[in-house]
Amino acid sequence: MTESPALPAVNREWHLVTRPVGWPKPEDFALVEAEVPTPGEGQVLVRNLFVSVDPYMRGRMSAAKSYAAPYELGKPMLGGAVGEVVASNAEGIAVGDHVLHYFGWREYAAVDAKNAVKVDPQAAPLSTYLGVLGMTGLTAYVGLLHTASFKQGDAVFVSGAAGAVGSQVGQIAKLKGASRVIGSAGSDEKVRLLLDEYGFDAAFNYKDGPVREQLRAAAPDGVDVYFDNVGGDHLEAAIGSLNLNGRIAICGAISVYNNTAPAPGPKNLPRLIQTRGRIEGFLVGDHYDLQPKFVEEVGPWVRSGELKYRETVVQGIENNLDAFLGVLRGDNTGKMIVKL
Ligand SMILES: NC(=O)c1ccc[n+]([C@@H]2O[C@H](COP(=O)([O-])OP(=O)(O)OC[C@H]3O[C@@H](n4cnc5c(N)ncnc54)[C@H](OP(=O)(O)O)[C@@H]3O)[C@@H](O)[C@H]2O)c1
Repeated sequence: MTESPALPAVNREWHLVTRPVGWPKPEDFALVEAEVPTPGEGQVLVRNLFVSVDPYMRGRMSAAKSYAAPYELGKPMLGGAVGEVVASNAEGIAVGDHVLHYFGWREYAAVDAKNAVKVDPQAAPLSTYLGVLGMTGLTAYVGLLHTASFKQGDAVFVSGAAGAVGSQVGQIAKLKGASRVIGSAGSDEKVRLLLDEYGFDAAFNYKDGPVREQLRAAAPDGVDVYFDNVGGDHLEAAIGSLNLNGRIAICGAISVYNNTAPAPGPKNLPRLIQTRGRIEGFLVGDHYDLQPKFVEEVGPWVRSGELKYRETVVQGIENNLDAFLGVLRGDNTGKMIVKL
């Protein structure tokens, strides 16, 4: 085994202590000191540099059966992270390499080499492998182009539009010839960003009044595609504004993630008969085959600045939980990242 000199003895990691009911509370979690693990055969030890916090983690805090296994109580939580290899017991990955893996929420992780993807800090800033060039970027690309079957000339509405996924959906739609792109977000500052920096044609603050009315005003000719990040009244409003043969990609439903009872469904589903509309959910994890195509197409837009991105960076493992709660509160603009 090769390793960097002077590794610390203590590793700080976040555990789930109790399953949150409603909004997660700080008492549901604990920042625990543990030993820095020793990498076994075929493993590398990674010092995490950037850790991802994402809305889907709320689902894994619950015991309910879902597409990803629930976090185990009293064990470190999981999530995307990028770090530097500080010890290697595996062929093909050396000390000093940088890797993307799924053992976030901690400072050091022993990772099977087969679950670590090498990333190049010279090709792109390391944090972007968690965001604009990573999972959230691919989500935007797949949901818009594959699930919603976007085509040139479509009018596109996206909610959560100043967030990691939403900001990329709107800009990809513009770059691919949308006739009109409309976004909704939770503050006037975010709305200004959509209009002034990301080139949206219209945007509104969903806290200013009923989404249905604000969407009607922003999209008087209706929408062909709705990319849903939030669910609830946004989804109902989008069904109400859907054009003939319109398509709705259900990506997320963050407005209901902390609900303690099921939210009522949209009241206007029969409108899909009249519009021959289609609603389809998708999971990015089913579409990693599209990753090379995504990087080939979106990478040059990011490098040239045609596709802009923001990151909200929170410092320190001790603030990992607050960064996660911040995503649910809407503290972030673009991808929320924790820098260790
Ligand atoms: N299907 C998949 O494979 C997949 C993959 C990745 C992400 N997702 C989903 O995609 C969505 C966006 O994820 P992301 O990583 O890009 O997060 P994000 O948009 O960067 O952050 C979440 C944002 O949601 C907004 N929000 C919070 N509560 C809200 C509410 N009640 N109503 C409306 N907006 C609310 C906040 O912005 P405001 O200030 O605008 O409220 C917040 O910044 C999430 O629903 C997530 O679960 C799905």
